[in-house]
Amino acid sequence: LKIINVVGARPNFMKMAPLIEAMNHYPDAIHPILVHTGQHYDEKMSQSFFVDLGMPRPDIDLGVGSGSHAEQTARIMVAFEKVCLDHQPDLVIVVGDVNSTMACTITAKKLGIRVAHVEAGLRSRDMLMPEEINRLCTDVLCDYLFTTDYIADRNLLAEGVDAQKIFFVGNVMIDTLMKHRQMASQLDLREKLGLTPQGYATLTLHRPANVDDRDALKGILEAVHEISQTMPVIFPIHPRTKKMVESFGLEGFFNTSDTVAGVWITEPLGYLEFLHLNMGARLVLTDSGGLQEETTVLGVPCITMRPNTERPITCEEGTNTLVGHHKEAILAAAQRILHGDTATGQIPEKWDGRAAERIVDVLLRVESGAN
Ligand code: UD1
Repeated sequence: LKIINVVGARPNFMKMAPLIEAMNHYPDAIHPILVHTGQHYDEKMSQSFFVDLGMPRPDIDLGVGSGSHAEQTARIMVAFEKVCLDHQPDLVIVVGDVNSTMACTITAKKLGIRVAHVEAGLRSRDMLMPEEINRLCTDVLCDYLFTTDYIADRNLLAEGVDAQKIFFVGNVMIDTLMKHRQMASQLDLREKLGLTPQGYATLTLHRPANVDDRDALKGILEAVHEISQTMPVIFPIHPRTKKMVESFGLEGFFNTSDTVAGVWITEPLGYLEFLHLNMGARLVLTDSGGLQEETTVLGVPCITMRPNTERPITCEEGTNTLVGHHKEAILAAAQRILHGDTATGQIPEKWDGRAAERIVDVLLRVESGAN
């Protein structure tokens, strides 16, 4: 079984790593090829994850880089078509919801190649999110849809997807978290930064709706700045956000003194370093998708600064609270958490570190009868 595995952007790497590991248990049955589209290319957004996660280097790097949505998607499609024609895979595996996920799905399907989507069925119902468009296009085309929870199954069935294509396997990103948790806990970054367990918050921010609009970004930074007067907030800043902060002239919200309180900007952190910081955080503020799931498993309260989420299970069962991007709502949610007014939640079904194993088992079974 010749499988092309596709990664492109930071949140793809921790989803693909356990799949490759699981495939490597069957060297006689599976021949995996790893393709990196190059959507993310900075050392801190890409290479450092391969090192942290012990992933093999990509066999093929398409080097497409940044651009508008159409430019980036088109460049990935043109380059990936050549790879598919050269290598003639039986199957392409895509993960998550980034432009690389959608572009490679469309390309492979038009060449008649079967495609599997890992993390299928998530829906925010927000068509202003580029990722929602990517998710819809990808799922409608894929032959195998691997889901993380029952809500995703329900979404796909409601869209008319054949139940036989859907496999509820759990969450591959949590496979990676469980594997690296122990290692991350042993780092000494927290001490180096002068932070005490439960004595700080972490922040991530990169959604276009939050960072490309000056008022939205300013409101969020005002709220975060206020929270940071109670406890330091560590903010590994995404390249897109850094660019916008500078162009809007909002650098004044960040700490330049040597007091510990305040909002501390860092470069994007490696996987292990960031996991280490999140494990000890009193609260996490984010607009990311994956972090909502990671905090649910870690039992750390999470404030999601978005009006909706494609991962509602993290609110229903986990530690996540959706608050939108308005200053007052963010502050009110932070106050509730700081006063201890939050439930610890539970870990969703099959988020147990074995999702990748299940996926490979399914593929070996269903693909042996395919063609
Ligand atoms: C992408 C994904 C988003 C994911 C995020 C994680 C899409 C539509 N979006 O958003 O779902 O949550 O990755 O980070 O696929 N840049 C760099 N260096 C890099 C990569 C990007 O400087 O290595 C800068 C460039 O200025 C670029 C901008 O960030 O134009 C945006 O990058 P892009 O890949 O288009 O989307 P993200 O915002 O990273």
